[in-house]
Amino acid sequence: MKELTIKEKKVKKDKVSTTFASNMKLPIHKWFRYTAGFSAEWVKSVLDKYPNAKSILDPFVGSGTVILESQLNGRMSYGVEAHRLIYKVAEAKLLWDVNIESFVESSNKLIELAENIKLKRKAYPKLLERIYSKETIKDLFKLKAAWQKLNIDDDHKKLLWFIITSILRVSSSAGTAQWQYVLPGKTKSKVLLPFTAFNKKLEAMIEDMEVLQNENVERGNATLIKGDARTLIGIPNDSIDLVITSPPYANNYDYADATRIELSFWHEIDNWGELQSLIRPDIIRACTQHVAHIKNEIEELFSADSLLPIRDELREQFDLLAKIRLTKGGKKNYHLMALAYFKDLADTFVALRRVCKKDAVICFVIGDSAPYGIYLPVDKWLGELAIGAGFSEYKFEKTRDRNIKWKNRKHRVPLKEGRLWIK
Ligand SMILES: C[S@@+](CC[C@H](N)C(=O)[O-])C[C@H]1O[C@@H](n2cnc3c(N)ncnc32)[C@H](O)[C@@H]1O
Repeated sequence: MKELTIKEKKVKKDKVSTTFASNMKLPIHKWFRYTAGFSAEWVKSVLDKYPNAKSILDPFVGSGTVILESQLNGRMSYGVEAHRLIYKVAEAKLLWDVNIESFVESSNKLIELAENIKLKRKAYPKLLERIYSKETIKDLFKLKAAWQKLNIDDDHKKLLWFIITSILRVSSSAGTAQWQYVLPGKTKSKVLLPFTAFNKKLEAMIEDMEVLQNENVERGNATLIKGDARTLIGIPNDSIDLVITSPPYANNYDYADATRIELSFWHEIDNWGELQSLIRPDIIRACTQHVAHIKNEIEELFSADSLLPIRDELREQFDLLAKIRLTKGGKKNYHLMALAYFKDLADTFVALRRVCKKDAVICFVIGDSAPYGIYLPVDKWLGELAIGAGFSEYKFEKTRDRNIKWKNRKHRVPLKEGRLWIK
């Protein structure tokens, strides 16, 4: 192959995209568009930078980008995910290695059963009745009923669960942008019927399985854990060489709300509180809806040892937020969110220190935030929490500015996104 000139090399390097969008052209990664995710190509570039790192960890593995990419590149990895739905998405993506022929047989069985199943029910979860036509909702529930009845290989069942889950949004004419709750008043022009969407998805997945299964490449072992980054239970002490991850940002994005459609479909509950309680318990507290009940725990949280390195600075911003919220219509609990968020990440660094080897490297993709215009220096505070947990140094590498050119922004504090490198 022709050697690249220095200029060409630079152009190529700059092209490595950091967002999940670029995954939509990569086998397996493209099976599920997870907008909270990051780029597999970028993950590969980090793996290449550390060729001797044998054991990789992503404590917030989401849809599995880091462990899948590690697996494809022959590295051993662990991923931890707390969100039960996202966990199952990552789990299914790791099953690309199943026997294709027998998986197709199981899929055919499911379709045949679904087509012939008699559904007696008349009512469905209210949210779903609002976003699907009568025919569509019936077909989706036929697929679900068939899936529940089917007695097949466990891995096939996981993959079929994944297919049904991934067609829920494309089958609705409502504005169901990826990982947002329904967009009120918006409709999509391109909608697929459930059985058509199912077959299309199945074909695309099989195509990717064939490509990867025919490659003669040594793969790594990927272990996915349904767990909590704050404890990292299941990951052995002193075992990790390289951590590549992106935690939830302190920006009020609600991971429970984002999956309302999927949760309503599989768990058939209308009650918002119940939906939340399915997801919330293990999730990093990065949105205000998550913290209303911690008013009585404020002093206890502040006194945690893990928060010591930033306690005074955090208290200052906490007090400002507590004051300013009283002047705002929504009176949002950003002060409680900030406190709980940094406590959760402080605990994550303590857990990471336990599992990391002495010379391990950590890369956190992070963004800062300024709720009600009060700046939270996420890069500096996370760096200091890491040092407090026993790491030796940190450096922030900015990748982009945020909130500098948008109209109608809520505040004018410039923000940034980038990578926090910790040793
Ligand atoms: C920014 S996303 C990471 C996405 C991932 N990089 C990808 O490419 O799919 C953060 C993830 O952390 C998960 N999460 C939140 N709290 C967690 C916790 N305590 N332990 C493990 N995972 C958690 C969220 O459910 C979410 O999927």
